[in-house]
Amino acid sequence: MATAPAKLILCGEHAVVYGRPAIALPLTDLRATATVTPAPAGSGPIIRAPDLGGQWRVTECPNEPLSALVLKIVEQFHIPTDIEITIHSAIPIASGMGSGAAIATAIVRELLAVGGHTVPTATIAELVYESERGYHGTPSGIDNTVVAFEQPIWFQRRPSLPPLIEPVTIGTPLTLVIGDSGVRSPTRLPVGAVRERWQAEPERYEALFDQVGEIVTAARTVLAQGDVAALGPLLDANHALLCEIGVSSPELNRLTDAARAAGALGAKLAGAGWGGVMLALTTPEHAATIAGALRAAGAANTLVTTIAATG
Ligand code: MEV
Repeated sequence: MATAPAKLILCGEHAVVYGRPAIALPLTDLRATATVTPAPAGSGPIIRAPDLGGQWRVTECPNEPLSALVLKIVEQFHIPTDIEITIHSAIPIASGMGSGAAIATAIVRELLAVGGHTVPTATIAELVYESERGYHGTPSGIDNTVVAFEQPIWFQRRPSLPPLIEPVTIGTPLTLVIGDSGVRSPTRLPVGAVRERWQAEPERYEALFDQVGEIVTAARTVLAQGDVAALGPLLDANHALLCEIGVSSPELNRLTDAARAAGALGAKLAGAGWGGVMLALTTPEHAATIAGALRAAGAANTLVTTIAATG
């Protein structure tokens, strides 16, 4: 069995599609798994995804992104084709937590293990990127990268070069409370809407993306310094810009407001927006209070997570 974690964008989503940096974190306790077992001769690869309510032969829907990923890997790495791939995931779908990238990464890892291949992590991230394109249209590549590397990363697209991927130093552990708005929003919808707005008003959106990029740069500095208190206002400012970019929602604003009112150091939506999750930065002592306030404000679910300091 192979596994892969969920992810959270700490800051910089959307602007990252347009070449600004973003910081993403793996959520190592929340994972997707893939297991390969033999299937009857001649069946070809079968995907069984009981949590997602499906089972299908990949050759019958070869353009479905996971099918396309499986077909590509089986061919490229000469992996036996009569296999059943069973997927489980504890990560809510369309919630901004990278469930698609985690499922695809778990599949790639399991297929490569079955074939006896060891490949660099960057290669796994690139293979998954193709299936992310199938789901999301124009993804930046940050989701598949943080899920494959399983460490806090700084990610920036560059013209005519591979993206810049660097580890981010975390000076002091971060306590985050994640609140799920309960609204499912496929990434490609807000990402597509932002593209239309950027095309209609390029100067306005480029200026907003620049401001997001400045926040992300400042966040990297305070993270390395372990200055958790200074990170809070940066997250608030990032949320305000995401509202201006047009990807928040009444539910997400209600949750970020409730987190701040309950004493969070900062709060923002996390991921593509219009639904999915938000995050609140807090002290460990205050985490339960914030989680309670989020539930009282309508969160369908809350999760307290700690991002460990890096060595
Ligand atoms: C989604 O997790 C992050 C977005 O910036 C889209 C992307 O980077 O591909 C909204």
